[in-house]
Amino acid sequence: MSLRRFQNASTIPSEILGDHLKFRNGRETQNRFLKAALTEILSTYSLEEPKKHGLPTESILNIYDKWGNGKFGMILTSNVLVDPNNLEAAGNAIIFQEGESLERRALFSHWAKLMKKDGALAVMQLSHAGRQTPEFVNPTPWSASDIQLVSAARNTTYGKPKALTTEQVKTEVVDRFVYAAKYAYECGFDGVQLHGAHGYLLSQFTSPTTNKRTDKYGGTIENRQRIILEIYDAIRAEIPPSTGFLVGIKTNSVEFQAERNNIGRCNRNVYSL
Ligand SMILES: Cc1cc2nc3c(=O)[nH]c(=O)nc-3n(C[C@H](O)[C@H](O)[C@H](O)COP(=O)(O)O)c2cc1C
Repeated sequence: MSLRRFQNASTIPSEILGDHLKFRNGRETQNRFLKAALTEILSTYSLEEPKKHGLPTESILNIYDKWGNGKFGMILTSNVLVDPNNLEAAGNAIIFQEGESLERRALFSHWAKLMKKDGALAVMQLSHAGRQTPEFVNPTPWSASDIQLVSAARNTTYGKPKALTTEQVKTEVVDRFVYAAKYAYECGFDGVQLHGAHGYLLSQFTSPTTNKRTDKYGGTIENRQRIILEIYDAIRAEIPPSTGFLVGIKTNSVEFQAERNNIGRCNRNVYSL
């Protein structure tokens, strides 16, 4: 997190957009223009060969070749999923141990290289869709609790989710995020952003509307956010701040509020990297 130079100013000079932005671990952006995460749904989805789900295609690489020449301060990828059975959409890019291959590593490494061509920091957004996985992809996805998504912005139906056991929180979620973050680091990305917004799994844990757990991951806000801190600590155990690798989160202010409607996606964001 950087120090704010204009804490209480009513007007802020636009020249600040051209300034560097320095993070606590020493990394700097060349300016303050950020390309936000925008899902492309342009990766592979293979019914015959699930191991080949989520390979970035030439179309994605082509777009990032353009953005990578745009002199951005930071470029975020679209949401890259950490579990092939818990997707935002068929066609998401995915990093998962079962799909490990030289081909996948080469494609993700090439993706990072294109993003960084003009000096931008390349940050991969990591997500797990949980109950917001389309029903045709998986009729019984994971979630914090077994509360089904009853309506959403798009014309998609969602199955009844299964609540992760306390042990599965580690094996099915924390470990997958750590694997993907390490993969991103090894492929040359400068950091990861955890997707903790828009009704996806991490916000299913933080929101009291979708988290009715009675174990250490439910109840108080400290418990509901525990999974996020565990993911952060586990990533940092593998990739310490001294490497320069950034670990951030995208969160959503309204999903923390009690008694929200059960509506899933919601686009009020707070960025914190
Ligand atoms: C087509 C489209 C795809 C998006 N995909 C993602 C995504 O993959 N991950 C994410 O966190 N936000 C996604 N968003 C949300 C944007 O990153 C952003 O938070 C949202 O558009 C609000 O920002 P704005 O007020 O600057 O438009 C998407 C938005 C659009 C319009």
